[in-house]
Amino acid sequence: MHALLAQHEETARASLEPAVLGYYAAGSGQEVTAGEAEAAWLEYRLRPRVLHDVSTVDLTTELLGARAASPFVVAPMAFHALAHPDGECATFAGAGAAGALGVLSTRSSRRIEDVAAAATGPWWFQAYGMRDRELTLALVRRAAAAGAGAVVLTVDTPYVGRKGRVDGVRISVPDDQYLVNLAQHLVPGSIAREAAEQDPSMTTDVIAELAEASGLPVLVKGVLRGDEALRCVEAGAAGVIVSNHGGRQLDRAVPSALALPEVVAAVGGRVPVLVDGGIRGGTDALVALALGADAVLVGRPLLWALAAGGAEAVTAALEALAADLAHVLAVAGATRPAELDPSMVLHLGARTGLLR
Ligand code: FNR
Repeated sequence: MHALLAQHEETARASLEPAVLGYYAAGSGQEVTAGEAEAAWLEYRLRPRVLHDVSTVDLTTELLGARAASPFVVAPMAFHALAHPDGECATFAGAGAAGALGVLSTRSSRRIEDVAAAATGPWWFQAYGMRDRELTLALVRRAAAAGAGAVVLTVDTPYVGRKGRVDGVRISVPDDQYLVNLAQHLVPGSIAREAAEQDPSMTTDVIAELAEASGLPVLVKGVLRGDEALRCVEAGAAGVIVSNHGGRQLDRAVPSALALPEVVAAVGGRVPVLVDGGIRGGTDALVALALGADAVLVGRPLLWALAAGGAEAVTAALEALAADLAHVLAVAGATRPAELDPSMVLHLGARTGLLR
């Protein structure tokens, strides 16, 4: 893990309420998948190139019309106000200052429009297909009107994963910060929590539905298999995000570091492929990019940064990750992510025939 990220985590752990800390850190089930994410990137080794001119490195990343300073993207995460009084407004101001793209969660603790006003860089909106479909459509229309460049539809959550660690623990999200994006659409007196539950009957049709309602490209987040990625692309997905939701959904789901190559192969360059889960430094990103990812999302480390030092620490974390990637990219013999390919990495399991 990058030293600054470790420092932010230590500071956050010392200052956050135990219930909040538990909620942010938790995985589902026995936390096998949550616990494996970082180690899965460490199973890859690099095959550097030599004697190439690496005196200038360029990390500029273009994704579906968004231009970012580096391939590090803020992952969508719920309730940033538990980490900092300015919540997502601070996160997105901080990300913009680093030139980074950010994805705003449906379950944010600040309204879409308020975050859009505070954001200083490109941002996308993360949607869930909720039981009340009109609610989902209303949210993506609002996001588009507020300036979102794409919709990220999270598909690994037909039901919210059971996180034993936080079972029965109440996190105190004040009422005026709980699902703030939904309040204006609900009939007074209706139960927000039910209408906002994920719709377990959702199928790939929802991709086109959201694209039409928002007029935006729709990426699908939470794919771990090549065949499923292909189904989504054939249904109109403009991008695929390889993710197991930070180990918070299906415990014992495969690490995203292992799922990435098969998704990249199946998608065959038709749409961008992004990945998240356990990305903690430049070398993790280097491996992901070499395996064919177009960008990487970072989750918990940015919540720790937000808790440790607000917008400035979010900027510092994203800049530190970019600087680390620029360094290892050059030392590995490349000057741009586009120069990387799978020949740059070797999975240790490949030596023992563990991997197909
Ligand atoms: C998440 N994640 C998530 N994903 C999503 O699509 N919508 C959401 O509202 C949330 N909420 C959320 C809350 C918290 C506290 C965490 C830690 C995560 C998942 C997130 O986008 C991402 O997939 C993982 O966090 C990436 O893994 P790392 O970087 O945290 O290991």
